Amino acid sequence: MGRYHIQVATGAWLFSGSFNRVQLWLVGEFGEAELELQLRPARGQVEAFEQDISQDLGPLQFLKLRKHHSLVDDAWFCDRITVQGPGAFREATFPCYRWVQGEGVLTLPEGTARLAEESTLDEFQKHRKRELKERQLIYCWSTWKEGLPLTIAADSEKDLPPDMKFHGGKRLNYEWTEKTGLLEMILKRVYTLLNSWDSLEDFDQIFWGPKSTLCEKVHQRWQDDELFGYQFLNGTNPMLLRRSTSLPSRLVLPSGMEELRAQLEKELQNGSLFEADFILLDGIPANVIQGEQQYLAAPLVMLKMEPSGKLLPMVIQIQPPNASYPTPPLFLPSDPPLAWLLAKSWVRNSDFQLQLFQYHVLNTHMLAEVIAVATMRCLPGLHPIFKVHT
Ligand SMILES: [Fe+2]
Repeated sequence: MGRYHIQVATGAWLFSGSFNRVQLWLVGEFGEAELELQLRPARGQVEAFEQDISQDLGPLQFLKLRKHHSLVDDAWFCDRITVQGPGAFREATFPCYRWVQGEGVLTLPEGTARLAEESTLDEFQKHRKRELKERQLIYCWSTWKEGLPLTIAADSEKDLPPDMKFHGGKRLNYEWTEKTGLLEMILKRVYTLLNSWDSLEDFDQIFWGPKSTLCEKVHQRWQDDELFGYQFLNGTNPMLLRRSTSLPSRLVLPSGMEELRAQLEKELQNGSLFEADFILLDGIPANVIQGEQQYLAAPLVMLKMEPSGKLLPMVIQIQPPNASYPTPPLFLPSDPPLAWLLAKSWVRNSDFQLQLFQYHVLNTHMLAEVIAVATMRCLPGLHPIFKVHT
């Protein structure tokens, strides 16, 4: 009984507003009332209304909303709705933070975070069960590849639940970066179409366009051992480097390499011997791309840390020993420059593969996806975790 002040906040994302009409109901402990507003939510706006309600609704528990459309269902990203009243009654907030689509009635509970045992009111318990049932129909599990973590059931980005997709602005930004990158590659391809590449300096032909200081430094010094070592801690994959506690068993030193063994042992004694072992890549079949067989190596790199802090490679073994093949060759900084550079390039290639598949795709994307899907399926919107999440 009395006057209520209602505020409806719409998201600031691109396309968050809607020209469809929104209808609202207040649901209190003693009753329910429909509001007579004709809301067409605008992007990034908080729209305020007042309404007198003759009935005594009691403490507000839920807010119901429905978006009507005639021809076009224009999705609306609702941030939250706050209701204050009647009189000096405290303000109740109903967080939404999702896309509202279709013509179904959406019920938003009052937003105080509650665990299951704290929702003593039967209405909240019922809402919680209903919400989890709905979520488990929307967020389903799928197996992408046997042996890998489960994923969300969706064949492409288009099949994802609306709230799991990129927001408009982020999607446009992503697509724009992709398109400009592709355009740059095409331009460089056309530019170099008629020139053959005969030396490493010919790479300069494609090294133009906007560049950072670091990019320029890498361009100047990519062949140096110092930059090669630096990348194990400052490159894309700083996860693999280990201080050696013994000489790795896979490092078979043929006769004639006693001097190298002595150097390695000296560094080991000093605690300045480091190793990067890509053994995880051993035995993985490589792809065939556009009819061309690709190759994967599983190298081992031994490095020493100089007193100045520089990390320098001492020896590279491209493949681990295998009983059916001769002892794998070892590459040294004293080898002919191109042979040594090629060995380092194979290591960089393996570093890229391991970083992308293990540390990036598996440990970040796939692991995060399992947690995200399980959270959406098992925890209702009122769970305190969503206060942190949003
Ligand atoms: Fe990624």
